[in-house]
Amino acid sequence: MLTSQKNHKTREREGCLTTRILGIESSCDETAAAVVADGVKILSSVVASQIDVHRKYGGVVPELASREHLRQIAPVVREAIEQANMTLADVDAIGVTQGPGLVGSLLVGLTYGKVLALALNKPLVAVNHLEGHVHAVLLEAHLTGRTLKFPAMCLIVSGGHTLLYRVESDARNSAAPFSYARIGGTRDDAAGEAYDKVAKMLALSYPGGPVIDKLAAHGNPDAVRFGSTKIRGNPYDFSFSGIKTAVLYYLRKRPELQPEIAARQNALANGERGAEQLRALSSSTTLDLIASFQHAVVEDLVKRTLAASEQFAVQSVLVSGGVAANGELRTRFEAEGKKRGFEVFFPSRPLSTDNAAMIAAAAFARFSAGERADAALNAAPHFPLGITSPDTGK
Ligand code: KG4
Ligand code: ZN
Repeated sequence: MLTSQKNHKTREREGCLTTRILGIESSCDETAAAVVADGVKILSSVVASQIDVHRKYGGVVPELASREHLRQIAPVVREAIEQANMTLADVDAIGVTQGPGLVGSLLVGLTYGKVLALALNKPLVAVNHLEGHVHAVLLEAHLTGRTLKFPAMCLIVSGGHTLLYRVESDARNSAAPFSYARIGGTRDDAAGEAYDKVAKMLALSYPGGPVIDKLAAHGNPDAVRFGSTKIRGNPYDFSFSGIKTAVLYYLRKRPELQPEIAARQNALANGERGAEQLRALSSSTTLDLIASFQHAVVEDLVKRTLAASEQFAVQSVLVSGGVAANGELRTRFEAEGKKRGFEVFFPSRPLSTDNAAMIAAAAFARFSAGERADAALNAAPHFPLGITSPDTGK
């Protein structure tokens, strides 16, 4: 009998039915590995961020990202296994992100997962990164003892995505993988991308979301009126390039703000990246602009998501992805959701941004349903959620 099967069978005989899945995530600029038991209990979660590598470019540089993943993947997986007090032989299956994401980045985690699965003779499960973000909310709900009712509307809002899905669970088998219907998505920039680009224009630290989140609290959110984005066709689509351009024009019309932008650039070059340090170098005009930008983005996300939730008769609202860490977004969603009778669920902040616990959790449902990937598994940079056979990524 093969080692992996023996381990699992022995534990089954001993009455220990736990299924432990090693998740591997490398779709963008975080190399992550985690072990999750039965899709809900996080035994370990290790994330190696590449922020320091990409900072000076103000965005993710794909070639550098794959090189960093190559450097990090083995130690990150090793650490995840050690933190879970296990050996690789104890793992019941390996879940890897197949897409969407940067092809060079995806290939590192996917190839590593494939090789591990082959060498250890473990089942391999392919995971859609977006489905991982949905499971991040479920992991948190489980940790906090909250029950999530389906169907749900899920907003996935990060540096790479702004998407709305109606998520349905199988009424006859709650352990089965969810089904997804795409309700809307961004026509241009993702919300997190707009945060990062605006932060770059204003010479704030990278990534822009966390610093804008902190500085926005010190400005007047009604000072600059950006006007609501008009989108023809689907009312649940998003667009954030207009607001980003509006910030650019606002700055062009105010040359008096250039000296403070130069001062912040200087501070960043000297490693002074803290929100308080940058705030001390920001006028009230800049803080008002930041607060107004955030307010406009948050209101748009909340308004369209809740309108879709009403239209598509869901029972709960889920918000996931890096931007879900935003303080104002959480407060506004909770307040507006309550008014309209929706319970809103978020992951904790570490589970909001990319991690592998969410990948292992998503892999569990697919593993239990008998899904297995083989050695032919390839990265799918444009893998849409809701279909089982992704494109080839061309
Ligand atoms: O999910 P994630 O880690 O990676 C992607 O898949 O993109 O999200 C990263 C994005 C970045 O654009 C970052 O600026 C944004 O999430 N972000 C935030 C906050 N924390 C991270 N945006 C707004 N407020 C935050 N607190
Ligand atoms: Zn993500």
